[in-house]
Amino acid sequence: MKGKLPKDSHTIMNELVLPNDTNTLNNLMGGRLLHWMDIAAAISAQKHCNRIVVTASVDNVSFKNPIKLGDVITIEAKVSRAFTTSVEVRLDVWAENIPSGSKVKSNEAYYTFVALDQNGRTIPVPELIPETAEDIILYEGALRRRQLRLILGGKMKPNDATELKALFFEHGE
Ligand SMILES: CC(C)(COP(=O)(O)OP(=O)(O)OC[C@H]1O[C@@H](n2cnc3c(N)ncnc32)[C@H](O)[C@@H]1OP(=O)(O)O)[C@@H](O)C(=O)NCCC(=O)NCCS
Repeated sequence: MKGKLPKDSHTIMNELVLPNDTNTLNNLMGGRLLHWMDIAAAISAQKHCNRIVVTASVDNVSFKNPIKLGDVITIEAKVSRAFTTSVEVRLDVWAENIPSGSKVKSNEAYYTFVALDQNGRTIPVPELIPETAEDIILYEGALRRRQLRLILGGKMKPNDATELKALFFEHGE
């Protein structure tokens, strides 16, 4: 029997850093991590949309600490907000060295995906209703992040970014 399940985009993905993933300093290459993050984020977006999704953009990502050969990567992804045909996915990444017991946050990022129908045309996505206090903060910030990435992508005029502009005038200055 086919039932309608509640939307849960939460996705956890693990990877082991192997020699082919590293540079000559035995550190994980940034591009490989971005690739794994793209997969985890796409799974999360697909869970929310029940559709094929494509990556529309990746916000700026910085790498705080090198991740070493043999470390275990944990990537946590969840949809932070749904717009009309696109969703924003929030990612948190940790690197764990199992023998030493250390686990450090590597980075955070936002990826945007667009849902497509069977003919490759954009299609509306289900609404996301934030539940926890943390989800609400992510949800509210998503509007400003969207405006910034659309401006940078040449898809929005800075003057139309009402919520983003409001950040600069919060204290009535
Ligand atoms: C993403 C893509 C479908 C958008 O197509 P488009 O013709 O620009 O479509 P629209 O202008 O109607 O925008 C559709 C949605 O994409 C969003 N979008 C477009 N460009 C974006 C960008 N640079 N960053 C974030 N979102 C973007 C729009 O905001 C819109 O979302 P909304 O409906 O929720 O408001 C199209 O550019 C594409 O197919 N890109 C290639 C995707 C791909 O192959 N990714 C893998 C990389 S190799």
